[in-house]
Amino acid sequence: MKVAVTSASGQLGQAIVKNLIKEIGKQNVVGIARTPEKAKHLGVEIRKGDYNNRSDFNDSLQGIDAVLLISGMDEPQKRIEQHRNVISAAQQNGVSKIVYTSIVGDEFHTAFSPIVQSNRQTEKDIQNSNMQWVIGRNGIYIEPDLEYLDTYIKDGEIRNCAAQGKCGYTSRTELAHAYTHMLLDEKHNNYIYNLLGTAISQQELATLMNQVYKTQLVFNSMSVEDYAVERKQELGEFIGGVIAGIYEGIRNGVYDIPSDYEQATGRAHKSTMELLQHFKR
Ligand SMILES: NC(=O)c1ccc[n+]([C@@H]2O[C@H](COP(=O)([O-])OP(=O)(O)OC[C@H]3O[C@@H](n4cnc5c(N)ncnc54)[C@H](OP(=O)(O)O)[C@@H]3O)[C@@H](O)[C@H]2O)c1
Repeated sequence: MKVAVTSASGQLGQAIVKNLIKEIGKQNVVGIARTPEKAKHLGVEIRKGDYNNRSDFNDSLQGIDAVLLISGMDEPQKRIEQHRNVISAAQQNGVSKIVYTSIVGDEFHTAFSPIVQSNRQTEKDIQNSNMQWVIGRNGIYIEPDLEYLDTYIKDGEIRNCAAQGKCGYTSRTELAHAYTHMLLDEKHNNYIYNLLGTAISQQELATLMNQVYKTQLVFNSMSVEDYAVERKQELGEFIGGVIAGIYEGIRNGVYDIPSDYEQATGRAHKSTMELLQHFKR
């Protein structure tokens, strides 16, 4: 069985390629990347694949049995068409199974909703294809919070608009483990899995960080409106709005949902404490 992973130069793609090599050997794994030189170090065959370029995928999906489509990063409407390039090229090449990294999120009420909607459209496109499919809806990564730790320490606080809302964090490592199972085991075919850990509040996140990193962070909540203004000033209109929308989703309980992680992998999702300890190493 030959398995291809798109966006293989990205952090999630690399983690999945590495897991697949352990399971099926490097000769059976193909990395597809917009920038192939960024994925060469993985030691598998790397083929060219820019989501904007359908003909890239007509070539790169030849001889592939299963493909993992990692969601693109462009603005929502563009993503739908980019993903369709991969889906239709996969069908044309006789790929028998497609697995898609979608997201958990509120489809209607936040500034993040257009991105969630675009992911749901791709889910429909995949379900309407003639391939076997598996869809994972990823929870929020913990990594950005850890990359932001120095800022939290400087400010002495985690500050956002999540209020008492809880979020089931995940990590790229946990997701890579799940997608490897979802690609290789037929029993997952035609399932949609929510891939996230047990939900915790921002106050609980601050407490866990304090335990692991010996910090003294507190959590301070602010209004959705004020947080959106702050994020847009720092990150620009689009990304700032998206981040504020994600935290508004946490506030509204969107990421406090049952997880299917154990069904996808055969083991429980790691706790947020375990994720934090893993990154400290
Ligand atoms: N759940 C969360 O909290 C969360 C957080 C961040 C991102 N995400 C999502 O997770 C997915 C990947 O995450 P990641 O950690 O791997 O991100 P990453 O490390 O930033 O990698 C992004 C990847 O997307 C590729 N890419 C961008 N535009 C492309 C295009 N037009 N055609 C083909 N590939 C393209 C990049 O290729 P190059 O190397 O050529 O640039 C890179 O491989 C994305 O779907 C993103 O939306 C989720």
